[in-house]
Amino acid sequence: MERLDDFRLQLGRHELVPIVIGGMGVDISTAELALEAARLGGVGHISDAMVPTVADRRFKTRFVKDKLKQYKYNVANDDKSDVQFDLARLAEATQMHVGSTMAAKRGSGLILINCMEKLTMNAPRETLRVRLRSALDAGIDGITLAAGLHLGSFAMMEDHPRFHDAKLGIIVSSLRALQLFLKKSARTRRLPDYVVVEGPLAGGHLGFGMDWSQYDLHTIVAEIRAWMAAEQLDIPLIPAGGIFTGSDAVDFLAHGAAAVQVATRFTVSKECGLPDDIKQEYFKASEDDIEVNGISPTGYPMRMLKNSPAIGDGIRPNCEAYGYILDANGNCQYIQAYNREVAAHPGAKKVKVWDKTCLCTQMRNFDLWTCGHYTYRLKDTTVRLHDDSYALLTAEHIFNDYRYSKDNSIALPAHPPAA
Ligand SMILES: Cc1cc2nc3c(=O)[nH]c(=O)nc-3n(C[C@H](O)[C@H](O)[C@H](O)COP(=O)(O)O)c2cc1C
Repeated sequence: MERLDDFRLQLGRHELVPIVIGGMGVDISTAELALEAARLGGVGHISDAMVPTVADRRFKTRFVKDKLKQYKYNVANDDKSDVQFDLARLAEATQMHVGSTMAAKRGSGLILINCMEKLTMNAPRETLRVRLRSALDAGIDGITLAAGLHLGSFAMMEDHPRFHDAKLGIIVSSLRALQLFLKKSARTRRLPDYVVVEGPLAGGHLGFGMDWSQYDLHTIVAEIRAWMAAEQLDIPLIPAGGIFTGSDAVDFLAHGAAAVQVATRFTVSKECGLPDDIKQEYFKASEDDIEVNGISPTGYPMRMLKNSPAIGDGIRPNCEAYGYILDANGNCQYIQAYNREVAAHPGAKKVKVWDKTCLCTQMRNFDLWTCGHYTYRLKDTTVRLHDDSYALLTAEHIFNDYRYSKDNSIALPAHPPAA
């Protein structure tokens, strides 16, 4: 078997092309991108990161403006514990985002939502519960639990009428994380329908420490596979992180993986939510332009382009409008870093904050260019246009390249589309 298309992913009664486009937060993996994956018979993800913001963009709603208005009085206050999400409005935004995506779905594939536990939103349990359940209410095909151990997430959904029919999976980066999840979820008498095993070369936040380069995806997948076999657990495994060609995917599928999850290749697709000029930054990047650093206030290392405008930017925290990283007590590591710099530079109009970033505002504005390790290879996946820019690709082109290519080759677009 040489091509990814020689394999199929069986999820319940669904037989799928074994390509999963991973969730990319704050509308980088747009509904359009996920819909293409489903139309082509694979699996797409939307993300539930900052859904009220995404809904405002998509549907011209006023979720963010209204929240800011409600908490305007608190903007200059260091204590953000007052700034709570209205759960009914959060449910409404999620249902709009999910519902309209599902209504547009064509083809035999699936659309899942990536749900990150690290979005603690000043009320971790309550907001996560609403996000999970409203996605199910709105008809999502399934939920991928991400960025966290999710020890209580199955229990939050167990009395939902769709708990057994929706596809539910989790992303882990170690056998230990999977074991913990299974142990804590055992009471709900439901196993995950799939497990994404994300290695250290992925984009976004990493489930490793700053020693990420010591780890290897093949090794982690093999370890998890061996343990599951010993436990007689038959759950589809989906490796992710650094799978750049169809042949890379076949390497995993031939060794028992059920599918692969990929993302970086799709960051330069037309359907990806990044603005086009930023897609050019991804194309232009060399290996030295990419780093894993500790500026995310979530505490997880994150991979990004070194020239991201977010790095060093000292904007005022905007928790009254956003506030997705506020913990249960209304704290965020960026607020502390920002206040420290303001105190150290009395009278300065603008401060620089190097050690942390205002993740919500920077992701919302596409100023934090998170990316996968192999972003520097994207330039080899397309052609240059007359003005020297790189031609964007269609998601269909990239999907089909993964699906049909052999021998580590990458198909270039046949005719560069007009600029
Ligand atoms: C730009 C970008 C943003 C991402 N954002 C998220 C996210 O919000 N949540 C998440 O669980 N994974 C996120 N990821 C990880 C992907 O879903 C995926 O698992 C991983 O990047 C696959 O590896 P690859 O990019 O090397 O193909 C992101 C990846 C990229 C490239």
